[in-house]
Amino acid sequence: MVLLDIVRSAYSVVRIPYLQTSRLGNVTIRNTNYAILSRNLPRRFVPHSAFSIPNSAFMETATSAAERLAERLSERIRSVPQSGIRRFFEIAATMEDVISLGIGEPDFVSPRPIIDAAVASLEAGKTGYTANLGLIELREAVADEMQRLYGVGYNPANEIIVTVGASEAMMIAMLALVDPGEEVLIPEPCFVSYGPLAQFAGGKVVWVPTRAENDFQVTAEDIEARITDKTKLLFLGYPNNPTGAVLRRETLEKIAEVVLRHDLFVLSDEIYDRLVYGEAYNEGHTCIPSIDGLWDRTIMLNGFSKGYAMTGWRIGFACAPKPIMDEMYKAHQYVVMSAPTMGQWGALAGIREAQEDVEQMRQAYDARRRVIVDGLNAGGLSTFEPEGAFYAFPDITSTGLSSEDFAQRLLEEEHVACVPGDAFGPSGAGYLRCSYANSLENVTEAVRRITRFADNVRS
Ligand SMILES: Cc1ncc(COP(=O)(O)O)c(C=O)c1O
Repeated sequence: MVLLDIVRSAYSVVRIPYLQTSRLGNVTIRNTNYAILSRNLPRRFVPHSAFSIPNSAFMETATSAAERLAERLSERIRSVPQSGIRRFFEIAATMEDVISLGIGEPDFVSPRPIIDAAVASLEAGKTGYTANLGLIELREAVADEMQRLYGVGYNPANEIIVTVGASEAMMIAMLALVDPGEEVLIPEPCFVSYGPLAQFAGGKVVWVPTRAENDFQVTAEDIEARITDKTKLLFLGYPNNPTGAVLRRETLEKIAEVVLRHDLFVLSDEIYDRLVYGEAYNEGHTCIPSIDGLWDRTIMLNGFSKGYAMTGWRIGFACAPKPIMDEMYKAHQYVVMSAPTMGQWGALAGIREAQEDVEQMRQAYDARRRVIVDGLNAGGLSTFEPEGAFYAFPDITSTGLSSEDFAQRLLEEEHVACVPGDAFGPSGAGYLRCSYANSLENVTEAVRRITRFADNVRS
């Protein structure tokens, strides 16, 4: 304002009728351009004296401009908050000597046969799209795997789709199943994407709480109590992120009765199916469409990110009866065309040649699981026994801190990054998510720091 007034007193200032934008961090600033003309000269645009003032000079701040712009964007997307997970990674990235138990991804490099097959596919010039549904060889291998592991049958020609991670599979499943206003039941705490993706499809999320006293398994009673005439879909995510819970067959059979009684669909995210431990491993992962009556109303999601340590390859898949798959296929076809080609060749090699690697990684996670669960319990942070995925979920209420304060102070004082439990839903309040997808050495040291921090807070 001041600068412009001084200029105005000596010169004619004219507004040049075009805008220019520049960037300040993440904010786009709209600049209005001016030209200074000497009062003695005829009014004429003088290019070399043009200057640019950010609109903030006229009290029109970048922030308010950004706000006005944001207000015009889709309410459907704006109503969804950003994930609470990232903030801690960003702070952690600025610090030294941080042990991160924050990230939900394997610390292993993808097994060698996967990398070799992908490189070979590139060398052989396989750089174009694949079929929209994915390479038929991969769909056949997935069909064989689902049959071999869980006894569930899908036709690779039209009941399996290869997607850009399980994430895309989740989105196209939502689009195929949910009409605006329909209700989606989601047990929580759960993976951060479930609620937002249901909302993107226009669905209304109805949370179903889970509790440590039920081993964080959702119960048939808690589901049934929330069913209305608008309920369309039950979204299950087991083995669970963030609790590590698995759903036992007996629990699932009771849930299936409710699903059938109320004629619901089931969306089952089984991305951690290969990462189960202890008794759950001995019993074997329960694949939801293998439960009587559920196959023809279930979409099963899975992928290679976790079990095969392939997060960056972006290869997932979904299995569903043909009438459902036909609709998912349309969303996939128009949004992504096909999943990455070299990733599909890599995933195929994974199924065919990396089963030993998958088992070795599972055993490594299991050893870390024992260290973290036993260590946290011994340190006075009561920790539920997780039987799947790679997360421990200690109860931190004995410290008197909220999940957010605990995570923040743990990072600042002990340089350990974890995620507050309530980033995954209200029932996660009072818990902390600690990923043990980190070396045994780091997990051991992190447990030492976490329990030391809890002791200090309590004393
Ligand atoms: C439960 C769950 N489902 C799905 C995903 C996403 O998987 P993808 O990498 O295959 O998209 C994640 C990633 O953290 C997850 O934890």
